[in-house]
Amino acid sequence: MDSLFTPYLVTGICSALVVACSLGFLRRPNLDHIPVVGHSSLLASYWFGKGLEVDHDRFVQEGYDKYKSGVFRVANLTHWIVCLHRSHLEYLARAPEDHLSFDHATNNLLKMEYTFGLKFNDNYQVSLVQSTLTRNLSVLYADVRDEIVAACNEYLDLKHNEWKAISVEHIALQIASRASNRMFVGFPLCRDPDWLDLNINIPHAIVAELKLLKFCPSFMLPLVAKVVTNLSGRTSRGVTLLGPVIKKRLQHMETEGTDWCDKPNDFLQWCLDTKRETSLTSLTRRMIVINFGGIHTTSSTFSQALLNLAENPQHVQALRDEVELVVSNHGWTNEALSKMRKVDSFLKETLRFEGSSLLGLSRQAMSDITLADGTFIPRGTLLAFPAYAMHHDGAVYGNPKAFEPFRFADLQNEGSEGSRRQMVAVTPDLLSFGLGKHACPGRFFAATVLKTMLAHFVVSYDVKRKDDESVPNTLRMGDAIVPNPWLRS
Ligand code: HEM
Ligand SMILES: *[C@@H]1O[C@H](CO)[C@@H](O)[C@H](O)[C@H]1NC(C)=O
Ligand SMILES: *[C@@H]1O[C@H](CO)[C@@H](O)[C@H](O)[C@H]1NC(C)=O
Ligand SMILES: *[C@@H]1O[C@H](CO)[C@@H](O)[C@H](O)[C@H]1NC(C)=O
Repeated sequence: MDSLFTPYLVTGICSALVVACSLGFLRRPNLDHIPVVGHSSLLASYWFGKGLEVDHDRFVQEGYDKYKSGVFRVANLTHWIVCLHRSHLEYLARAPEDHLSFDHATNNLLKMEYTFGLKFNDNYQVSLVQSTLTRNLSVLYADVRDEIVAACNEYLDLKHNEWKAISVEHIALQIASRASNRMFVGFPLCRDPDWLDLNINIPHAIVAELKLLKFCPSFMLPLVAKVVTNLSGRTSRGVTLLGPVIKKRLQHMETEGTDWCDKPNDFLQWCLDTKRETSLTSLTRRMIVINFGGIHTTSSTFSQALLNLAENPQHVQALRDEVELVVSNHGWTNEALSKMRKVDSFLKETLRFEGSSLLGLSRQAMSDITLADGTFIPRGTLLAFPAYAMHHDGAVYGNPKAFEPFRFADLQNEGSEGSRRQMVAVTPDLLSFGLGKHACPGRFFAATVLKTMLAHFVVSYDVKRKDDESVPNTLRMGDAIVPNPWLRS
């Protein structure tokens, strides 16, 4: 862009933003009838913005405790979020997209078109995750496990029983992204440091860009996004790495049809097989978006699990015994994982105890709605459930503030309901993977990767914390709960 125009453009954008924001405040859905927790107006929350980032969790918890059976709302600088009561979960799970929209709520948050270059409703990859990927888990298992073991050997690089300090978050990201990409794009790109680095760092870049974009009214997004996002930079870096792989496969498809010797069986190939798109740019963006959805969620859960393991050494032996027994009977297979109930429970408890967000099941009301308890929700309202508070409710979980790694394994053993207690089961008591139609389609893959990672760790390594106990395991960033990147163990 011509640098001469930049100051004018920036000034123009700023003044238009101010006007649009003030107009925007006037046109918000009227929520006066819903009680407020925390700052009493969006404007106040704006002024006390710094405090809000810190206090958001306190407000949500306060509202949860105060309005035991009702709804309340909290402000997050730009929007009111109406927090619903547990009794509305079933409605949310069944509501059609033109009543409560997952896609609009997600897009509101991520501005897909500008951050990923994909229209938010152009998402055929979601059904591939749900069906093809899940059905292929057993076939792909040996590859995924091979990648996890290779990644652990490479990044931990331990010889003769030594102790080594590692950054938990860094290691978890590397292993999770290699395991995922073995299945997303196959070997050898899944080991390409540049491809991994690109996908690991994109979320940081996008979060930074969204800090600016979220204050921008929608009609100005195209213009502002051109200035503040680096979509073209990351796309062209991605195309440089992935483009040659795609080209080669397209040539095969042209000359040899739908099948050929050594045809890859990975996510990229499943996308190509749909014949929905052949552009290197959009296929690359699609692989980036799938990385975005899969890597950090998995690695952050694994980081938290490792820290929980380091803090609960008394439980390591039980895990180790279980893994050794199952593997000696069934080998390392996807089917064997379903027999590792303690490993499963440990991870599920990690999701409950920490999780990745204070709020869950974010949806946008697409029409005026009256909830079963009579609460009126005007069109456009953003809704969510106070997931973290619900996961720590003593009425649902005994001793909720304690990490009890085998609480779900004990339940699994109780009776025929066993499989409904596993981590991949979505239930109103645990919202980590969502609920209803949009419940995370990648959770079967995530569970396979996470269980393999944890099982491999407990039989191969000892873990202890390096930093003292006062260093927190997770940090809060707005609604998000993220692993503390400075922790080592
Ligand atoms: C521990 C790891 C993971 C967690 C905690 C997680 C969590 C979630 C949650 C909470 C949702 C929204 C559900 C709702 O609001 O009802 C979601 C959606 C989604 N997740 Fe995951 N996820 C994980 C791993 C993955 C992986 C590995 C993939 C891909 C391979 C993936 C792909 C998706 C996709 C495509 C959606 C959107 C579904 C839709 O549009 O209907 N996730 N995930
Ligand atoms: C507030 O939450 C909404 C919905 O999740 C999101 O779109 C918006 O960007 C958030 N605003 C801030 C300042 O975090
Ligand atoms: C794996 O995916 C391929 C490609 O869609 C499909 O043809 C095959 O049936 C799947 N394998 C299994 C075991 O479902
Ligand atoms: C944009 O992204 C590319 C690829 O990740 C990177 O090399 C470049 O430095 C980025 N540009 C800016 C301005 O951040």
